[in-house]
Amino acid sequence: MQVNGKPYRTVWMEDGAVKMINQLLLPHAFEILKLPDHRAVAEAIISMAVRGAGAIGVAAAYGMAQVAREAPEQGFWDYVADGTLRLQKTRPTAQNLFYAVKKVNDAMRDAPNIKEARRVAQEVAQGIADADVAQCESIGCHGAKLIKNGARILTHCNAGWLAFADWGSALAPIYRAKRQGKDVFVFCDETRPRCQGTILTAWELDQEGIDYAVIADNAAGYFMHRGDVDFAITGADRIAANGDTANKIGTYEKAVIAHENHIPFYIAAPSTTIDLKCPSGDRIPIEERSEEEVLGAIGVTDNGIVTSVRIAHKEAHARNPAFDVTPAQYITGIITEYGVSKPEEIRERIQ
Ligand code: MRU
Repeated sequence: MQVNGKPYRTVWMEDGAVKMINQLLLPHAFEILKLPDHRAVAEAIISMAVRGAGAIGVAAAYGMAQVAREAPEQGFWDYVADGTLRLQKTRPTAQNLFYAVKKVNDAMRDAPNIKEARRVAQEVAQGIADADVAQCESIGCHGAKLIKNGARILTHCNAGWLAFADWGSALAPIYRAKRQGKDVFVFCDETRPRCQGTILTAWELDQEGIDYAVIADNAAGYFMHRGDVDFAITGADRIAANGDTANKIGTYEKAVIAHENHIPFYIAAPSTTIDLKCPSGDRIPIEERSEEEVLGAIGVTDNGIVTSVRIAHKEAHARNPAFDVTPAQYITGIITEYGVSKPEEIRERIQ
C-alpha cells in the first residue's frame, strides 16, 4: 500500500517494537504507534488501534515474538503461557488471531532450547506477516477476474489493506482490477456503529484513486433493487467448515438482499480465516461490544481533535453485536489465495 506516495504495511516489527498505523485516528490523522511489549500490543488489539482479522493476526504474531524476547530464563514457559493467553483473550471472533498465536506457540514448543525458541518465534511471526501479504495479493489476482470494466461493487466494513498487513481481502480484487486498467465504482456501506466503511474504506479508496460513494447501511437494499449494484464482496472474520461466514454486523442482511435481487455475493479471505474445527456458523463466537458505540459516534472537531459525542439520551440502552453469520446458502463464492470456491467446497479446497 502507498499512503501519500510512501509504501507502508499496516503492522510491522522493527528493533523489537511492533509498529502499526493507528486506526483510531484515521482518516483525520496519520500516526504510527510504536509498541514496546506484548502487553501494549494486546491493548492495541482491544482498543482497535489495529483491527481487521488479518491485521490483528499479524499483530498477535509479532506480540508472541515479543513474549519470547521478554520472557526471563527462569520461568520462561510460564511467561510464554501467560502472554499467549493475554493475546488470545483480546478479541474472540477473528480466526486469524488464534491461527497466528498457535502457530508461533507451536513452533516455540518444538524448539530444542530457549535460545532457539526466541529465534523461531521471531522467524515464524515474520513468516505469518509475509504470508498474509502474499495470500491477499493472490486473492486480488483471483478476484479481479470476476470484475468487468465498469463494474459497480458493494462492500461492507473495511476488508482492505488496513484489515491485513497489506492488499486486503475484499478490496484486493478491486485494487488489482484498477491496476489492470478497469474502471470500478464502489458502494461503501458506512458500517455502524464504528463506521469502518466511512472512516477506513473510503480513505483507502481515495488513496488508491478509486471512485466510490459512502452509503448509509440502510441504503444498500435501495441501490441493489434499482439494479445499481453488479455484485457484492466482503471480507470474513471466521469461515466455518460448511462455508457459513462470520463478518462485520450487517453482512448477513446484505447477503440476503443480494440473493433476493439475484446479485452475486462473494466473500474474500485467506485460508487462515477458515476454521475447520468449527462445523457451522452457529458455533462461531460472536463478540458483543460496549453499548456506548451504538449510543454515540466518533468524529473530529473543527480544531482536529478526534472525540466521541453522545447521540442517545443519557439513560438509553443498546445491544452491540460486532459480527453476524451469513449462512453458506447466500454466498456465491469464497475467494481465497487458492481461487474461487463454492462455500460447500471450501473444506476440500484448502486441505
Ligand atoms: O471489528 P473489526 O473492524 O476488526 O472487523 C473487521 C471486519 O469484520 C471486516 O468486515 C473484515 O471483513 C473482516 S477482517 C478482514
